Formats: sequence, structure tokens, C-alpha cells
Amino acid sequence: MLERKLAEKFRKLYTENSLKLKNYEDQLFTLQDPFDWIQLLSERSYVMREVYEENEELMSELWQNCSEEITPEEAELLYDLAIGFFFDDHHDFVVLTEFCEKILPVFIDMDEPEFLVAIYHVLGSEYAQFYRSVGDKKGMQTALEYFRKSIKEASRYSQISTPEVREFIFQDYTNLIIYLSGFYTEKSESIRLYDEVWALWENENVQEIDADNQQIKNFLSIIDDGFMAKSKNLDKLSEEDRERYLNLLGKSYERAKQGEGDKIGTPNYRTCLTYKWLRSEIASEEVLEALIKSINEIIPTPDFSKNDPINFELVMRHFKYACTAIMILEKMELDGNGVMEWTEKFLPKSMSILSNIPYKFFTGQMQPLCEQWYHAAEPVITGELNKVQFIMQMIVRRQPFTYIHSQMVAKIATLIGQQIIEKKPDLLLGIRGIDKVDDIQKNKAYLISFITISGLVHDIGKCYIPDTINRQNRSLNTKEYATIRKHSEVGYREAEGNSALLPYADVILGHHKHYDGLHGYPLSYDNTKSPIRIIIDLISIADSVEAGTDTLTRSYTKGKDFKRLLKELQNEAGTRYNPDIVKIIENSKGLIEELENVTGQGRYNIYYRAMQEILGNVAEEFPDA
Ligand SMILES: [Fe+2]
Ligand SMILES: [Fe+2]
Repeated sequence: MLERKLAEKFRKLYTENSLKLKNYEDQLFTLQDPFDWIQLLSERSYVMREVYEENEELMSELWQNCSEEITPEEAELLYDLAIGFFFDDHHDFVVLTEFCEKILPVFIDMDEPEFLVAIYHVLGSEYAQFYRSVGDKKGMQTALEYFRKSIKEASRYSQISTPEVREFIFQDYTNLIIYLSGFYTEKSESIRLYDEVWALWENENVQEIDADNQQIKNFLSIIDDGFMAKSKNLDKLSEEDRERYLNLLGKSYERAKQGEGDKIGTPNYRTCLTYKWLRSEIASEEVLEALIKSINEIIPTPDFSKNDPINFELVMRHFKYACTAIMILEKMELDGNGVMEWTEKFLPKSMSILSNIPYKFFTGQMQPLCEQWYHAAEPVITGELNKVQFIMQMIVRRQPFTYIHSQMVAKIATLIGQQIIEKKPDLLLGIRGIDKVDDIQKNKAYLISFITISGLVHDIGKCYIPDTINRQNRSLNTKEYATIRKHSEVGYREAEGNSALLPYADVILGHHKHYDGLHGYPLSYDNTKSPIRIIIDLISIADSVEAGTDTLTRSYTKGKDFKRLLKELQNEAGTRYNPDIVKIIENSKGLIEELENVTGQGRYNIYYRAMQEILGNVAEEFPDA
């Protein structure tokens, strides 16, 4: 039987552990002295392992003490735990989803709206956060179902005594409308929901209790925004729905007009402008001019040297203005040059804001926004280099340790690649259309850059994997494992639609497949048929070398030295690893020395330079001791 004392112990220690690690990360991203920084990084890796073990123990102790069938008393303790974590912004996927799912049947029996709304909200939010960025539609359906259950409880609104739980209902309307109008091109549900939520807000009972609730008002304004974003798919609606939609949007327009609708550069101004444009009351060019003027001259540029909450609002506003401009451009059916002429007028400003956002900003709220921005801006960014740079910027910002890992893999693959060109150039025949051995030497620089970029982008799909998975302060559950393994497919999907990434698509998809094609993932992909199979094999080896020798950023491996790792490569040459590449490594003393260095002490230099980039400093070499 689970007792309060044990539940409290779990909460206290588990939370402390997470804060301990977070504290290290915060320091890592602010420290400037390279030696302190290395010290901290090693300390952190030690603590990471400790925390991992302790958390595992805490979790199993908790479940060992719970009854086979959870009793109502236990359910309440677990409820307090989960909700407590949620309110503390401690989004541990296992605690929040597994605990809530275990206790849900108990609360369904009790039928109390207060508990039900809270549990539905937590489950919906956690699943949505988890599945949205990987584009897992089935997972998202689960999340949406929980939100739908939560808003159903609106009929018992006055029975809910905790204001935060009542706010959840409005938030869940917000979530539904936003997610439904996002990449789900559902037709009319969000129109109905929009109508419904405003009716709920205007309901007498609700007004009586919550007329002054500022949080709910914020959600309503986000709903207005999200509802307007749906206009992107306006032509996909039936004529009837389109009319209903525009009429409802008219109400939002009226509200905005009463606000600061006339003041250029304000959020309301954008609403009014977009509405008039949708109603064909103003020409596209005129709207664009106004948006561009706002972006470049009116909306203040965030000053990140000051830790002012206004910065977040300003970033949002800049991106929203830019997204609206892009949406209008897309509807104008211009040719490439026409689009470029317009984008040149505002994209540089938005991009410079993006590149100046400090790392610390890229958490929670910032991530979905950047993703949205990325998808909006990507099609209008021209030039291969710009595209790759843009993508790298997103990786740097979103997942610094993935960025570091990618730099390492690129370096290792490049070193091995140079030896391949020297010793066995015929292995590279056919890559990027080079079909004569003589041409391999001639195109050396080109091939090397192809290999380097392959290393840099191979894990691009990781950026879409929820950050919680990468924290590694406990073992992953099956859903988390399944999701992390999706990173190659998610990255592939990204690469398919992106001309700059397309040449690397097979590496992104296949780098976890074994050389013989028999094991690894994704199962359905046949890496042995790829025209760039050798590059996939090379990256797969570089990936294993880096992950296996990493002592600093992973809690689940104890880093090995390169010599030991080479043994593993040899043992699995022909099955997991390409035997020709393994042979080249084992036969080159110089290469082995270089790899020993890069994976040993040399690692610090690559880490340090990457970290400087993340901090927004000019990248410098690690100083000699
Ligand atoms: Fe990977
Ligand atoms: Fe990797």
C-alpha cells in the first residue's frame, strides 16, 4: 500500500534530481571560462549517472508499494504527485502519463469534474507535446481525444472549485483549435469549437465566477489568433463553412478593432489587416507593405542583453507578422523572382532576430513557435547554403548536445573519408555522379564536403524528438523508445521536402541500419540498395565511434577508448559495419592516432567551439593548458 510519506519522498528526491541537472545545464550555457566549463561538463556527466540510478530506484520503490489494483487513497496520492509535477513545470513524460493513466479509471468511477478535467488536461498536454513535433498522427489523436473529454466537462463548470482547473477547460479549447488548424486539415470541428468557446465565455455562470480571470482572457486571445491562422486553408473549406468561418472571424475583427486595431505594429493591427485582406477589402501588396513596415520599423527589436519578458512577446510578434506576410505571398501566385523581391524586404530582419535569440529562450513555448517559423520560412529561403545554414541554426538552438554530437560525427567521418580517398577511392565510385577513379581525386574537396555535411545533418530528425527524451535522467519507457527511433524517418520526411537536404536523405534515413541490411532501423528501409550506401556506412561507423567513446553527455554508456571501440568495429565488420571501411581504419596508424585524439582530449576542442557558437560568441579554439 502506497503511503503519503513515500509519495512525498519520491516527489522531493525526483524533483531535486531534475533541478540538479537543470542547474548544470544553465551554468554550462552561461559559463565563459573554458577550464571551468570542462570541469563542469565532467562533473555533470558524473552526476547524470548518479541521478539516473537513483531515479530508477525511486520509481521501482514507488510501484512496488502500490496495490495491484490502485485504491482511491493511492489514486489521490498519485494525483497529487502528477498534478504537482505538472504545476511545477516538471514535465516528466513517465510520471505524468503513466501515473495519470493508472489513476484515471478510479476517478471516472468517482465522477468528479474537478479531478477529471485536470487528468484529461495533463494527459492531453503531455501527449500533444510529445507527439506533435514528430508528426505522429495516431499519438496526436490520443491527445486530442483527451482535450475533447476535458471540454465536455464544461457543462459542470461551476462544480469545479480550483480556478486553475477551470482555466484548463479554456486552455483545452485553445489546444484543440490550434492543433486542429495546424497540420491537421480538419474541416469544420474547429469552427464549431470556436463558436462554442465564446458562448461558454459569455455564459452567465462562467461570467459570474471568472469574469476577471486574466489567464482565461489570454487563452481567448490565443484562440482568436489560432483561429485566424486557419485562413491559410480557407480554400479547402466548403462554401458554407467558409462563410461561417469568415463571420466568426468578423467577431474577432470587431474585438481587435476595439483594441489597438488602428495602431500599426500591434497584434490587433495584424488581425484587422488580415481580416480585411481575407474579405478582399485591401490588396495583397498594400497589406505586405504594412506588414513589412511593421517588421522593419515599428515592432521593437528584442534586446536580449536584458532579461525582459517583453522579449518573448516581441519575438512572437515578429514571427507572426512574418508568417502572415509569407502566407499572403503564397496566395499571390508570384514566380520565384517575385517572391524573392518581397522576402528580401523582411526575411533578413526575422532571420537576424532568430539568430540572436539566446539558447535559454529555446525551451517550452519557444520550440513550437520556431518550428512553425521554420516551416513557414523554409520554402521562401533561397540558395543551398542559406538553407543548410538555416537548418543548422535550428539544430544549434534547439538541441545543443545533438549539435555537438553532429559536429563530432562530421569530424570523425571526414577523417576516415580522407583515408578512403587516399587508399581505396573506388569505394566512392558513383557518389554524386562521379564514375571514374581519376575523378575522385580531382573532386576530393567536393566529396569531403559531402561527407562533412552528411555528418552534420544525419541526426536532423532528432530536433523533432521531444526534448524530454534527451534528458536521460531515468530509463526510457516503450513510447519514448519508439519515438526516439523515429528520428531517422522524421528527418527523412524533412529532407524529402527540402532541396538542400535531399542529397543526404538516404544517410538521414539509413544511418541506424546495419551494413548487411538485416538489423537496425527502420526495418522497411533497404540501405543496401542506396546509391550512396558507402556514405551511409561511413556515417554509421562515425556515429558509433562518437557515441561509444562519449564520456560526457550520455548517462547510459560508460565511454570506451577508441582502441576498444575499434575491436567492436572489427568484431562486427561485415554484419553491422562495412568491412572495407573497418579495414582502412585498422591499416592506418595515422588515422587511428587522429581518431584517438578526436574521441579523447580533442573532443574538448570541438565541444568548446560548438558551445561558443551556441552562446553566440565567435568560435575560438580551446586554449592550450
Ligand atoms: Fe541517429
Ligand atoms: Fe547520431
